[in-house]
Amino acid sequence: MRTLTIARPLDAHLHLRDGAAMAMVLPDTAQRFAAAIVMPNLKPPVTTVAAAAAYRERILAALPKGLRFEPLMTLYLTDDTTAAEIHAARASDFVHAIKYYPAGATTNSAAGVTDIQRCRQALAAMEASGLPLLVHGELTDVAVDVFDREAAFIERVALPLRRDFPGLRLVFEHITTGDAVDFVRGAGPGVAATITAHHLLLNRNAIFAGGLRPHNYCLPLLKREAHRRALVAAAVSGDPKFFLGSDSAPHGRSAKEADHGCAGCYTAHAGIELYAQLFDAEGALTRLEGFASHYGADFYGLSRSRETLTLVSEAWTVPVAQAFADGEALVPFMAGETILWRVQP
Ligand code: DOR
Ligand code: ZN
Repeated sequence: MRTLTIARPLDAHLHLRDGAAMAMVLPDTAQRFAAAIVMPNLKPPVTTVAAAAAYRERILAALPKGLRFEPLMTLYLTDDTTAAEIHAARASDFVHAIKYYPAGATTNSAAGVTDIQRCRQALAAMEASGLPLLVHGELTDVAVDVFDREAAFIERVALPLRRDFPGLRLVFEHITTGDAVDFVRGAGPGVAATITAHHLLLNRNAIFAGGLRPHNYCLPLLKREAHRRALVAAAVSGDPKFFLGSDSAPHGRSAKEADHGCAGCYTAHAGIELYAQLFDAEGALTRLEGFASHYGADFYGLSRSRETLTLVSEAWTVPVAQAFADGEALVPFMAGETILWRVQP
């Protein structure tokens, strides 16, 4: 048996939802991570500093006793977000970024940005204040093939954004293609990316393996093997531009196994173990701590956790389901399958 001790990791991209659902998924993350950048795509979305403060309080109130966990809040960018709101966010000590969802790109993005040009004042305020913009990097143009939407977004939105706001700090969230890896590598030090465990472990065949697999359906979609290899190379490279962001996104079973099923993989039940398995398979376990615990914190100007987490190379089987809100089941990623690393209690 092998062990690996790392500073407690930071999940730089997490969906916690709200209410009973949040209370049921929060322990999975809080048992593993010191902190997480919490996504604002609630219904209604978290668009103001006041709403973020209230959401943060609800998360802290739902935290089981004895667990220490810091929710790092974000605001949801809309066409109407003001520069004043951005400055208020920067002045707060709990809002750490602004999330840009192209309208219609994914779950609860209807209130997102219809045209990024409408956000110029907010973007200028972010550029001036250093508050990062977190990008869901998919073009929503229905004429663009769903597997090409990230590459199209880079051409038509991300590159122009870099030209117009060269000082804007930017995180390209849940990257899925070699195109995004190249974009991030080629951009300045203010540009970084998060990578999910599911995009590192699976290629797009997994959406169709032995039948349609709704629990492997997320956005951006899983991509072909060559893109997965590019993500793996970036993740294990030790380049601090690439860090852990799980994009764990819980939906009840009935919302996933449905006509018009929801996008999102729930990975928080094995939020660090999945990455340990991948880094081990790549012979890169010594690089896991940088990716999971250091680079994200450094990018956000946060101190690295002084607490530690120990992983052991012991196989366990993922339950086929876990409890969720409203009597629903939540089907976790790799349900019924074996994971080769576990967290030492
Ligand atoms: O698969 C996804 N699920 N991608 C997103 O961008 C949103 C997320 C969710 O909130 O369910
Ligand atoms: Zn997300």
